Amino acid sequence: MRFKIIRTIIAVCALAPAFVLPASGCGTEPSVFPSAAPSPAETDVPSVITKEWDPGELLMADFTLYNVDCGSVSETSFPEGTSRGLCQSVSDQPYGKDPVTEAVWGYREDPSVLREEDSLGEGFTVSKWVIDKETTDPNQTSICYDFQVPEGNYTVTLGFFNPFGVRKIDVDCEGRKRISGEKILRYSTNEKEFDVSVSDGELNLKVYNSAANTFMETPILSYIKIAKEPEYTRELLAAAVEAMSGVNTDDYTSESAEAYLSSLEKAKTYLAKESNKGSASIKLKFKDLRESYKMLTKKYKYDSFRPGEVWTDTEGTPVQAHGGQVQQMEIPDPDTGKTVTKWVWVGEDKTHGYRGGVCAYTSDDLYNWHYEGIIMRNVPSRRSLEKEEYFKSLYAGYTDAQLDDVALALDAERAVIERPKLIYNEKNKQYVLWFHADGPTATSDSNYAAACAGVAVSDTPFGPYRFVGRYRLNTCPPDQEDKHPQSRGMARDMNLFRDTDGTAYIIYSSEENLTLYISKLNDDYTYLATPPEQAVYGKDFIRLFPGAQREAPALFLKDGKYYLMTSGCTGWAPNQARYYMADSVMGEWVSYGDPCIGDEKHTTFDSQSTCIFQDPATGTWIYMGDRWFSDKLNDSRYIWLPISFTDKGEMRIGFVSEWTLK
Ligand code: DGJ
Repeated sequence: MRFKIIRTIIAVCALAPAFVLPASGCGTEPSVFPSAAPSPAETDVPSVITKEWDPGELLMADFTLYNVDCGSVSETSFPEGTSRGLCQSVSDQPYGKDPVTEAVWGYREDPSVLREEDSLGEGFTVSKWVIDKETTDPNQTSICYDFQVPEGNYTVTLGFFNPFGVRKIDVDCEGRKRISGEKILRYSTNEKEFDVSVSDGELNLKVYNSAANTFMETPILSYIKIAKEPEYTRELLAAAVEAMSGVNTDDYTSESAEAYLSSLEKAKTYLAKESNKGSASIKLKFKDLRESYKMLTKKYKYDSFRPGEVWTDTEGTPVQAHGGQVQQMEIPDPDTGKTVTKWVWVGEDKTHGYRGGVCAYTSDDLYNWHYEGIIMRNVPSRRSLEKEEYFKSLYAGYTDAQLDDVALALDAERAVIERPKLIYNEKNKQYVLWFHADGPTATSDSNYAAACAGVAVSDTPFGPYRFVGRYRLNTCPPDQEDKHPQSRGMARDMNLFRDTDGTAYIIYSSEENLTLYISKLNDDYTYLATPPEQAVYGKDFIRLFPGAQREAPALFLKDGKYYLMTSGCTGWAPNQARYYMADSVMGEWVSYGDPCIGDEKHTTFDSQSTCIFQDPATGTWIYMGDRWFSDKLNDSRYIWLPISFTDKGEMRIGFVSEWTLK
């Protein structure tokens, strides 16, 4: 069982009273301000709690003797399941004997500080401490609580939810100022914690604002938790190990699960030994275990697509796979070595902004994605290729000139790596990664001067991928009009397509993005089928829609028809999609216009295409686009939408804010 304390955030706040009341103060201890409140001695209960709790009981209560909902004047404001302290049977009460535990505790009923219930909406119940409007004297506007406790050390946690303007808070406890002039910001929950030692059987607490000038600055307080410092014995550690064992760590993020398992193991190892190094060592083990147990973080499980929302991986980190591609692949299971079918998503890692490497994720259901890591890293420096182990082994055998090429093409400071696409080569069992490899050249500082297609290979799906080369590709034949003759063979936004006969093609923007090209790849999928100088138009490559300025291509085959989705060229800003259909890859491509329905702004629902694929289990075709945030590229979102097809095979995409595979 987890013993995390769940708190409702309940505000107790100072507000204008409807009437003026006589002044009074609080506190039975030597306090910063004198007190006129009755002391526990005036009540007919023992002045000291003698009760002892066994370690297991304390543990289950998280050592909490009191967990007071200061906002509550009723029994209901803490949510169900909130644990109360061991000395407490009601969520709050005026100072006096607890009806069940008989411990003496509660707020001092100051006639100038009354409480009223109110509701703030958003699930907050607020009780107001109604304070004398005429005075800001902290002595008369303080919120005071006293708690009967056994002698010992305590951690006091105070929670403040502030629905008003910034308030300042001072706290006295056990005769000392513990918090001084702390600013409690608006609309946030502020938690403050301090340790105290109690020797007289009562913990005295006073919350006030010594700098209050108007009643609007009088104090607020939402909850108080008083936890006993345990005695660090072997029994306590054993009780903790027992109570905190048996967690199904698969349900939790691996980072938090690893920390928990490691501290649990350390505690068990300690207990297994005969020797007892003493309480300091036990305290360390105990605190580690308790902390890591509390920090266990549940994996978030998606059961739908929510286009445009932040999409986190199974560890809770936003997915970094922009300009990406999703496909089903047969890959070796890292644990068993057996082949398993997984969805694989590769894309640009924009964690650090514009420049980054390529990330991969896997999934069984397309909703939940497991991070497989950076499969192709960019290169921090030419030197790192020979110094860093990762690069050294990856590029062992490369000549100096080849290493120069790698450093230039993957330069972390200058290179641009976009729209990575992965293809498996059945023939030689190699994974081939193609990407838009760009960056400045010797003659231009532009980030898109190189305009090349890059290739990297690996024997395993998740790399590391070894850079092979970056190339300019086919050029406009002499009998056709080159839209950008000054720079030939350019290759920018790109995608891959493998046809049913195993032939693979690269589809890319060329001629300064004015013309799309489709070029055939060789059998290894690592270069063109025929080098540009010998390539035959119509057999090795074709030019599409010269001057139409299309990019972000996504080619797919459905029911014998080839579809090509594209965007216009407007940088990171979205624009209107257009798609084309043909009977073969190298055939006649005919425009069918914009497939989006209800896209009033004509911006492809604020996205740009990157991949279209089918889920064979449900038959659903999925449009995958990027909603780029140019000011914060790492926060760019994914727009996945279901595609429908008319009887004539025309594509239709409508926006749905949440949807599932059916
Ligand atoms: C649009 C392209 O599709 C993106 O991949 C990227 O290159 C941006 N242009 C840069 O402006």
